Amino acid sequence: MHVEPSPLKTHAAIRDARRRGLRIGCVPTMGALHPGHVSLVQRARAECDFVVATIFVNPTQFGPNEDFSKYPRTLEADLEMCRAAGADLVFTPQISEMYAADAETIVRVTKLSTVLEGAHRPGHFDGVTTVVTKLFQITEPDLAYFGQKDFQQQLIIRRMVLDLNIPVTVVTCPIIRESDGLAMSSRNRYLSAADRAVAAEIFQALQLAEQLARESLAAPAEIAERMRAHLEATGTMQVQYATVADPQTLAPLETWQRGTSGVALIAAKVGTTRLIDNLLLEF
Ligand code: PAJ
Repeated sequence: MHVEPSPLKTHAAIRDARRRGLRIGCVPTMGALHPGHVSLVQRARAECDFVVATIFVNPTQFGPNEDFSKYPRTLEADLEMCRAAGADLVFTPQISEMYAADAETIVRVTKLSTVLEGAHRPGHFDGVTTVVTKLFQITEPDLAYFGQKDFQQQLIIRRMVLDLNIPVTVVTCPIIRESDGLAMSSRNRYLSAADRAVAAEIFQALQLAEQLARESLAAPAEIAERMRAHLEATGTMQVQYATVADPQTLAPLETWQRGTSGVALIAAKVGTTRLIDNLLLEF
């Protein structure tokens, strides 16, 4: 496995692999890798001939009061996990190599990026779409792997790829969870033991939504309210949103019809840690 901080050298190495007829798979990450990330690298390994993982804590997607400076950085362990999962190349750029001091270009998906996460984290998705465009330019993948964990993110990247004619197939991979259902996240390591126990209620609320939808027990808006009530009953969780939305537009679902699918989405703060999760619902 090759570790390469230079964008130009990464581009050249991947060009070379492509010239040899290899199918390129890319897994963008911010490091602090856990089994959720590893599952993406493994999927890429199974479907591609040349697998590149990227590790870059992207400053432009963090708000001024967010955790950019304390975001966990565990490069040695990350590289070991990439190696074990079968990556061929890991791109580990420095900020100065990714952003010129006088850079002025951003990539914005105008509507999808303003709701839910976008409403609570202004500018976040502009940072994501801009850096992912840059990572796609540098790595020129045939396939790129994202987690359903960040449901809105994968939707926005799919929109961007269509709108900008980027020749990449976006693959969305299932959420990997802890044994009590908590979605794995680099931010889980911020949780105290007490908060960690409370955090598991997010998946409980999503499962409640699934049950209510499956048994036709409630309209989407009522399900959303039941999720919120479940989370608020913990007494310590601060719910930012709990919604049942259209999985394509993220607009709140109005009614269920036979065959309708929805996605239950939650963002909540447990202590100072902000967590997100979601579950696809079939009616
Ligand atoms: P990061 O949070 O490191 O996540 C990298 C990828 O791993 C994302 O596609 C995310 O959805 C996926 N992932 C995280 N936890 C997961 C889990 N429990 N199960 C499955 N997949 C999971 O998302 C980002 O980084 C950044 O925004 C990035 C796309 C790299 C742009 O900077």
